Amino acid sequence: MDLAELNKVATAMVTPGKGILAADESGGTIKKRFAAIGVESTETNRRDYRELLFRSAKAMHDRISGVILFDETIRQKSEDGTPLVKLIEQAGSIPGIKVDKGAKPLAFAPGETVTEGLDGLRERLVEYRDLGAKFCKWRAVIDIGPGIPSYDAINSNAHALARYAALCQEENLVPIVEPEVLMDGDHTIGRCEEVTEFVLKTVFQELYYARVKLEGMVLKPNMVLPGAKSPAQVPDDEIARTTLRVLKACVPSAVPGIAFLSGGQSDVEATARLDAMNRLGGVPWHLTFSYGRALQHAPQVAWAGKPENEPAAQTAFSHRAEMNGLATLGKWTPDLEKKAA
Ligand code: 13P
Repeated sequence: MDLAELNKVATAMVTPGKGILAADESGGTIKKRFAAIGVESTETNRRDYRELLFRSAKAMHDRISGVILFDETIRQKSEDGTPLVKLIEQAGSIPGIKVDKGAKPLAFAPGETVTEGLDGLRERLVEYRDLGAKFCKWRAVIDIGPGIPSYDAINSNAHALARYAALCQEENLVPIVEPEVLMDGDHTIGRCEEVTEFVLKTVFQELYYARVKLEGMVLKPNMVLPGAKSPAQVPDDEIARTTLRVLKACVPSAVPGIAFLSGGQSDVEATARLDAMNRLGGVPWHLTFSYGRALQHAPQVAWAGKPENEPAAQTAFSHRAEMNGLATLGKWTPDLEKKAA
């Protein structure tokens, strides 16, 4: 392991002004996203769509520090034969890869999952590194509901995240450690706070036991939010304060940066809350984004599978990248959204 190199890549992934594009939707997820815009999920459509994102040259160069790819995409070539990985590198961004195999039902834990993918992972990491990946992602999912999460679900997922992260570092790949507490349900922000704190404490304990070097990783957590169906919604400022309070209590300052997932927040909510956190400041890590839906919803709607819409889709993507880039600096304002509309 070359910790100086890992730290260099991790630090570049959370460069102020930039963040990560999560374009690693699995086959099932991209099919769902395409169905919503009336597009069939063929290999060519998936390639064309992702190629248009990666060819948004200015946004990619100025605002996107890294891109998380899916197994299919890291092997794909653009229409002119250039590997998609090369497009990302040429734009000055860093290619990464999702390596987990998804959340599967956890035994004796009804309604809960554990993320799988450790078997054969070392060999897959070597292959992905040869294909150009510099970092990896593994997503653990924790659901809040009556009687859940169980300690078993939290512990099993934290343990798997730590084993994954250690394997990545051994192979000189930066692990993005993603324990996502879902915002599904009607729970309060207080309940999300309690669960997120327990999850993060457990994850960092397991990372320590697995000898993971915190300087060479990036944390990808949820923001601390009320459930989407909760009647007790709260202002962005409260979300920002609560999220920072939990992170300060759980995340050692050796971690170079924290890149939030959007998790079903609207585009502008995800931007506004990241901005609010960066305005509060006073934390030892860079706070940035690693958004899937909050970066891609607008370009997907603008594209709708039609080649003639590609420029409009690139404009929509570039706008969201610009807004979120400003939010990493605490320099976003709501009127910047109106100006673009
Ligand atoms: P969302 O921002 O859509 O939650 O996706 C981020 C991600 O990579 C989830 O694993």
